[in-house]
Amino acid sequence: MSLAQSPFTIAVDGPAASGKGTISKELARHFDVAHLDTGLLYRAVGRRMLAGVDPVDAAQSLTVDDLQADGLRTPEVAQSASRVAAISEVRSALVDFQRAFARRAGGAVLDGRDIGTVICPEAEVKLFVTASAEVRAERRFRELLAGGHDVTLEGVLADVRERDARDSERVVAPLKPAEGAVLLDTSTLSIDAAVARAIEVVEARARDVA
Ligand code: C5P
Repeated sequence: MSLAQSPFTIAVDGPAASGKGTISKELARHFDVAHLDTGLLYRAVGRRMLAGVDPVDAAQSLTVDDLQADGLRTPEVAQSASRVAAISEVRSALVDFQRAFARRAGGAVLDGRDIGTVICPEAEVKLFVTASAEVRAERRFRELLAGGHDVTLEGVLADVRERDARDSERVVAPLKPAEGAVLLDTSTLSIDAAVARAIEVVEARARDVA
């Protein structure tokens, strides 16, 4: 099925390692629409803050090179990203780019924490992807090990919990399901099953709005 109606936004929100990134990539591929991993924007700002740059200045002057820099996936940068993400001036500097991407012709999938609540509440599809903290920590632990990082499962679980708390409890754009979002708990689903379910949700919505 093609998402001929334009714009068509698929908002995918959820906590770290819930599977939202993989699901979003697969949705973009399946429906042939553009994909933006908005976590990368915050990671790029977090990385520049670790290098001594003021986070608001970093957000206001973010470049494509910053988004392609090495080291954006490390646990240190993830923690730094969730700190800068609580600063309202950082978030507002990144809004216009994300909104324009969301409403681009041809359709888009964006994944993050506030896509359905703040960036694009008018999104045609809103998904909230989640999983237990233990399952998410296990997944992230395996990814980091495969990437050559020196981590322990306990350390990753503590990181996941700390980031969940910071993301959910912050005043600006806290992580929570958007109104009307479809909840997708991936704790006991294989990635193929989770992707298949997400495709069904999008197809049903696309038929409704056609
Ligand atoms: O999704 P990812 O783990 O790459 O995101 C890194 C951090 O960026 C998150 O912990 C969160 O604090 C922040 N973030 C956000 N809003 C988004 C995407 C990410 O606050 N839309």
